[in-house]
Amino acid sequence: MALLLKIFIPLLGLVVAFYFYSPSENFSGEMLRGKRVMVTGASSGIGEQMAYHLARMEAHLLLTARTEAKLQKVVERCLELGAASARYVSGSMEDTSFPEVVVKEAENTWGGLDMLILNHISYSHFTYFNGDVEHVRKLLETNFLSYVAMTVAALPMLKESEGSIVVVSSVAGKTGIPFVAPYSATKFALDGFFSSLRQEFIIDKVNVSITLCVLGYINTESAVQMVSHVIQDTPAPKEECALEIIRSGALRQRELYYPSWTVRSLLLLHGIAPDFLDSLIRSSYKVENVRRT
Ligand SMILES: NC(=O)c1ccc[n+]([C@@H]2O[C@H](COP(=O)([O-])OP(=O)(O)OC[C@H]3O[C@@H](n4cnc5c(N)ncnc54)[C@H](OP(=O)(O)O)[C@@H]3O)[C@@H](O)[C@H]2O)c1
Ligand SMILES: *[C@@H]1O[C@H](CO)[C@@H](O)[C@H](O)[C@H]1NC(C)=O
Ligand SMILES: *[C@@H]1O[C@H](CO)[C@@H](O)[C@H](O)[C@H]1NC(C)=O
Repeated sequence: MALLLKIFIPLLGLVVAFYFYSPSENFSGEMLRGKRVMVTGASSGIGEQMAYHLARMEAHLLLTARTEAKLQKVVERCLELGAASARYVSGSMEDTSFPEVVVKEAENTWGGLDMLILNHISYSHFTYFNGDVEHVRKLLETNFLSYVAMTVAALPMLKESEGSIVVVSSVAGKTGIPFVAPYSATKFALDGFFSSLRQEFIIDKVNVSITLCVLGYINTESAVQMVSHVIQDTPAPKEECALEIIRSGALRQRELYYPSWTVRSLLLLHGIAPDFLDSLIRSSYKVENVRRT
């Protein structure tokens, strides 16, 4: 027994150390200079911050979201920050023809594309699932199917450039989080679809990287407004989050975990003690503050 422990404990330590170790591969903003990058959901939050980072790296930018007035301002700021070029297309991903419209815009202006960053989500409530199937259907359309449609439309250009697809997901797309059932479903769907597609690309020798970003709680206005009365944790900064997403995409990583320690711990627990993780999540929430709709 003592011998077993002598071997087991260091071995476990080694495994855990390896699990939490992230290789410090060299990233520099120059990797993005002159690259043609499309960002969805770029009018606010993490998407907006990604646009500013990419602008400083002197990339060409095509931004999209619904609100034209906000996009105009973000584009202006990107040009001030040094973007090689910056433009936007406004429209809603609820409209099933819109993904193709956006990709067509890239084709017409650049004749190619190097990085597709899929980041938008449409609004959903933070509450008990109320049986609204139509809402789930709509959310699948905007948060999942539009990602598939954008990818299909952009793939010929991405194959040509040996480019990258970056998919922004969440801890709620890896483990069950209460009060976000429809949202969680759309994020799990992204993992299933894009992880399967990554396998096919490798088998088929398609040199287009797919990076899935698993994010924890980030301090965007919409997230804080939605959950701060229930989740007491301090959210991580959206600026750093945005930079980490770009970095992981440029380095063609398989997955990004941000904030690293929190998300990696959650995923490790999910693998070895899922019931314990579930109870930990439940007990960290102020459930009495959840508003029923
Ligand atoms: N913040 C967090 O705590 C957190 C945690 C985990 C994962 N994430 C993920 O990070 C990504 C960005 O989140 P965020 O917090 O930055 O969100 P956000 O600030 O609410 O931004 C969402 C973006 O999507 C756009 N959008 C909304 N509905 C749309 C529609 N129907 N069609 C097209 N665009 C639409 C919004 O612009 P318009 O309103 O102008 O359309 C906005 O630009 C999401 O994928 C989210 O799931 C965030
Ligand atoms: C990172 O850069 C350093 C010095 O600039 C170099 O010595 C090292 O080999 C690089 N590492 C990788 C993985 O490219
Ligand atoms: C895939 O594309 C990347 C980026 O263009 C390149 O660095 C890498 O060498 C390519 N890999 C293969 C196997 O062609």
